[in-house]
Amino acid sequence: MAHKTSIRHCLAPSILVALLTTFPASAQTPAAADGADTTSAAMGKQSFRSYCASCHGAEARGDGSVAEHLKVPPTDLTQISQRNNGEFPFEDVFQSIDGRKPARAHGNRDMPVWGDAFKMTRDEPDEAGVNDRINDLVHFIKSIQEE
Ligand code: HEC
Repeated sequence: MAHKTSIRHCLAPSILVALLTTFPASAQTPAAADGADTTSAAMGKQSFRSYCASCHGAEARGDGSVAEHLKVPPTDLTQISQRNNGEFPFEDVFQSIDGRKPARAHGNRDMPVWGDAFKMTRDEPDEAGVNDRINDLVHFIKSIQEE
């Protein structure tokens, strides 16, 4: 068990650093090009591909390439409403992505604390930018719920 734990503890931060440093700057600028889909869910989808798909999978079903290395499997994000009596808990999902509120930080978290991580990226230095990005992600996740 000690072996597994140590892998888990050094894996997540190094993935995070890799994700944050390899993300192309151009893709982070909100698309201003004609016809580009700039709805919140579409922007969130872009962020999801860059930051979340490695663990949660391209289709958000919890089967990303990194998933097998994690002790706690990444959540299937298409089933959140189903697990919540058919209602999408927008604020709860927002807080679990942000991860900075102590109330949510129960026990060992395998999910990166995105509220802190996004603050480290070049384009999101302030709180409003961080909130926007998380808000977009939640809109995207809301858009992929299975009934
Ligand atoms: C390093 C792997 C990893 C990455 C990258 C990752 N997650 Fe997670 N995520 C997890 C794991 C593991 C869980 C299961 C619960 C836990 O450990 O906290 C989880 C849980 C969640 C939950 C909670 C679902 C619920 O039951 O309420 C949400 C929402 C979520 N992730 C969204 C995201 C989003 C959005 C991103 C990208 C910004 C992301 N995750 C990136 C590993 C990851």
